[in-house]
Amino acid sequence: METPLRVAIVGHGYWGPNLLRNYFDLSDVWVSWVCDSRPEALEKAQRRYPAVPVTTDLDRVLGDPDVDAVVIATPISTHHPIALAALEAGKHVFIEKPMTADTQQACELVELAEDRGLKLMVGHTFVFSPPVRKVKEIIESGALGDIYFVTTQRVNLGLHQKDVSVVWDLAPHDISILYYWLGEAAQAVTTTGRCCIVKDIPDVAFMNLRFPSGVVAEIQASWLSPVKLRRTIVVGSRKMLVYDDTENVEKVKIFDHGVDFEEPEDFGEFQLSYRTGDIVSPKIQGVEPLFLEASHFVECCRSGATPITDGWAGLQVVASLEAAQASLDNGGAGIDLPEQALRARA
Ligand SMILES: NC(=O)c1ccc[n+]([C@@H]2O[C@H](COP(=O)([O-])OP(=O)(O)OC[C@H]3O[C@@H](n4cnc5c(N)ncnc54)[C@H](O)[C@@H]3O)[C@@H](O)[C@H]2O)c1
Repeated sequence: METPLRVAIVGHGYWGPNLLRNYFDLSDVWVSWVCDSRPEALEKAQRRYPAVPVTTDLDRVLGDPDVDAVVIATPISTHHPIALAALEAGKHVFIEKPMTADTQQACELVELAEDRGLKLMVGHTFVFSPPVRKVKEIIESGALGDIYFVTTQRVNLGLHQKDVSVVWDLAPHDISILYYWLGEAAQAVTTTGRCCIVKDIPDVAFMNLRFPSGVVAEIQASWLSPVKLRRTIVVGSRKMLVYDDTENVEKVKIFDHGVDFEEPEDFGEFQLSYRTGDIVSPKIQGVEPLFLEASHFVECCRSGATPITDGWAGLQVVASLEAAQASLDNGGAGIDLPEQALRARA
């Protein structure tokens, strides 16, 4: 039995308790601290896990030599200072998505983690979700052929955030899924949107991405919708696929549908042949993505392996969000992603 990895959870608001539950349940982890600046958030943690020490003092956590890794689930604007201090204190760091509030901050964290030989991982939770993993497997098998385009909808009557737009809140999920599936980051982004309810906080956004391979993608993100949609369509040259995360059982369906172009034999008109064949839904294991994500972070801290959702992956997503925000602010102008995002490990 290895000595447990000693983990501190920082931020116990809406999402932190989910991380705490999963780290607590891992047999090779010892939760050393739960830290939150609000005492009432700590009371909740203590009621559920009376043996876990709690504190409002982050310095106490970072100064504790018995902490190996820090898991950060605080608001986005605080990610950079907390992660920077944790890396400087020699701790491995897991940060919730999006990694930072801008690309410059993301670069600093990636460089510091590399300099210090510490693990930096980002909570792109969907990359650990079994249906998303299955779709990656299907794309890589070549079953869909060449990918033409992807459309994705993430809309519902969602909680309006006070400090960030819907782009920063919801789109990180779809961007991280797309980059994971396609193995590349977008090179340019255009985004239109609107502030329907709260001034200066867009609550609906339509984001278009163009990839170096030629793939194009659209992400619809909104906190204003009468129904909850979590649906992605991937269209390839051989087959098409629907991933619907609101489905209980058949979350992924592969359609043997397509259109084939036949060159004219003489100077006549070209022919199109339409194919509507079988629909297949692969079996998908039912494991909580957060459990797989937490296990992966612990495994990487122990083995030295690079996390799938490492700092570079986090940086690519942040750079894409920043580009989307710039496009939104400039009436839907096309914005190229910065060099670092394209050079980053995909
Ligand atoms: N991976 C996912 O699917 C997912 C889902 C929801 C939220 N998130 C992410 O989780 C993070 C937190 O979101 P949330 O909705 O839980 O926010 P929240 O506001 O509900 O909770 C944040 C908590 O952090 C505490 N906090 C703030 N500054 C602090 C500091 N300096 N030191 C210690 N504690 C501090 C607050 O008191 C609060 O309890 C965000 O980055 C968000 O994007 C991820």
